[in-house]
Amino acid sequence: MTIKKLLVSLLTLVVISGCNESSTKTTELIGVADKESKPLETQIAHHNAQDYHSFSNPDVVKVTHLNLDLSVDFTQQTLSGNVSLDFQRMTPDADTLILDTRDLVISKVVSNGNVLEFNLANADNFFGAALSIKLPSDSSQVTVYYNTSSKASGVQWLTPAQTAGKKYPFLFTQAQAIHARSFIPLQDSPQVRVTYEATIRTPKALLAVMSAANDPDTPRDGVYEFSMPQPIPSYLIALAVGDLNFKAMGERTGVYSEIGILDAAAAEFEDTESMLIATEKNFGAYSWDRYDLLILPPSFPFGGMENPRLSFITPTVIAGDKSLVSLIAHELAHSWSGNTVTNATWRDLWLNEGFTTYLTYRIMEMVYGEERFNMEAVLGRQDLQADLDTLKPNDQILAINLKGRDPDEVFSNIPYEKGALFLRELEHKVGRANFDQFLLGYFEAFAFQSITTDDFISYLEQTLLQDYSDKLSKERIEEWIFEPGLPKGAPVPESDAFTSVDKARNDWLSGTIAASNIDSDNWVVHQWLYFLNNLPAELSSAQLTELDKAFGLTNSTNNEIAHSWLLICVNNWYQPAFPRLNEYLVSIGRNKLVKPLYKALSATPEGKVIAQKAFAKAKAGYHPLTVKVNEKFVK
Ligand code: BES
Ligand code: ZN
Repeated sequence: MTIKKLLVSLLTLVVISGCNESSTKTTELIGVADKESKPLETQIAHHNAQDYHSFSNPDVVKVTHLNLDLSVDFTQQTLSGNVSLDFQRMTPDADTLILDTRDLVISKVVSNGNVLEFNLANADNFFGAALSIKLPSDSSQVTVYYNTSSKASGVQWLTPAQTAGKKYPFLFTQAQAIHARSFIPLQDSPQVRVTYEATIRTPKALLAVMSAANDPDTPRDGVYEFSMPQPIPSYLIALAVGDLNFKAMGERTGVYSEIGILDAAAAEFEDTESMLIATEKNFGAYSWDRYDLLILPPSFPFGGMENPRLSFITPTVIAGDKSLVSLIAHELAHSWSGNTVTNATWRDLWLNEGFTTYLTYRIMEMVYGEERFNMEAVLGRQDLQADLDTLKPNDQILAINLKGRDPDEVFSNIPYEKGALFLRELEHKVGRANFDQFLLGYFEAFAFQSITTDDFISYLEQTLLQDYSDKLSKERIEEWIFEPGLPKGAPVPESDAFTSVDKARNDWLSGTIAASNIDSDNWVVHQWLYFLNNLPAELSSAQLTELDKAFGLTNSTNNEIAHSWLLICVNNWYQPAFPRLNEYLVSIGRNKLVKPLYKALSATPEGKVIAQKAFAKAKAGYHPLTVKVNEKFVK
């Protein structure tokens, strides 16, 4: 540690220990010691973030490093072993370490060879159970021996039948937002950053990969060692085990997947290296060494997850034409916004997802051109509108109040698209080059730190709000961040490529032309999505039959097009598409694609029967999150 850093830490300590536990904010400046030579970060007040989703006590005892040793048991569907946690005392009288757990069996806790007392509290339904460990005064590390439950909310165990190869089982974790605690006892708050090492023991035929340094050439011997030398929040700890193979795409990029889809994945995502280079050019050097992709089985509940060095990706975006690769741009962008600069609590999720969505559009523009960017921006704006039309005002706020709420239930487009639109407005007001300069400085100032919305506002006050006081105002910024809806005069994305689509749709709806005469031969996937998503809510069976006949929509192999179409079919009870609907719901577990369908089906008694049947069939193969979020629609 450099003297400067030591000074900053000491000052931080003084600030933290000097502040009343119940206060949610401190406004003291830290690091004033050498204001002159330090970058802006040390002049910024770090607001003490209240995390409603963790029982842990990082203000008193803060965990800094983990060393995992876990055995993977596919028969019992458990992980078992131990984790050593290195910690720092943040107050002189600190004597208890509090960790988060969920459904873990804790067998013993040891420090310096001595068995320690611990207490596992009663479990809360959303947040799990606090594990309190009494610390001997000379201790700076504890080792917790434990095993996970087969129902761990952050782990999915797949049988061989649920994989592409059908021969070996598969396992993957998904920790964001608060599921790391279901497979590791730790301080499960994004304001706590840890480095980690891990030893993972698996059946010999299988390969383990983690959100850490992965050696593509590692021998398959059933014992895998990992190291993540940069401090990351707990929600970025990730593990997958399966019959995985690797294929390089570029110098720093490659893909892991089951062998059957490896070539298709590598071809679909071959532009990953270009995306990486383009992002670095504008927003600063990539900090994480390699950037690889792991393609999961279709039950992966998200499109993607930005696990550092190794994004986890749904196979549902392998469309054959790169039409859905903005997902890769998105997960890659998180390497800057999210993984390097991290939201301090889930209230601040928009700092991760809004910045990332903004960067995603920029990357897509750099790699695929302006028209692609315009189309994606319009579709994103429309997704946002759908949420603005249905969400309660309080859920339309960027800095959302999540007290007492399960983050899994609050997921929406607001932090993504509203956040991106806010940044787009800042860009328009100060000019792109200036805004890029600002972003570069922001990523540097807060590198490897977790920050709150208030930290961001303080930073804006010292940068853009000062430099462009004629163009920006704090009121406007607060309106974006703390008010529902969109401020008047928010940017309006537009795409010329959609003009002809609007015309075709209108001509068809008014009976001027037949569907088969729509000149759609050169339409790209985005134009199809725009065509479908903007049809009137009510369509006749004859109209749907005509569309389906002309364009084969029920049989579309593009999962986004199929999703939009099937939703229309449910809402208009177009039964010829129902076998496909059933197959879709049973074969895909990505929540964003299945949840709207279950929800729409649940609106009518007949629909509910279809939903119940599909859900019953699919449930065993769904991830615990997809089960939790959709169960209510089939009750
Ligand atoms: N980090 C998110 C996924 C996430 C967010 C998991 C909040 C749990 C809580 C990931 O980067 C993401 O945004 N995925 C999207 C991608 C899309 C917006 C391109 C998804 O999965 O659909
Ligand atoms: Zn994201």
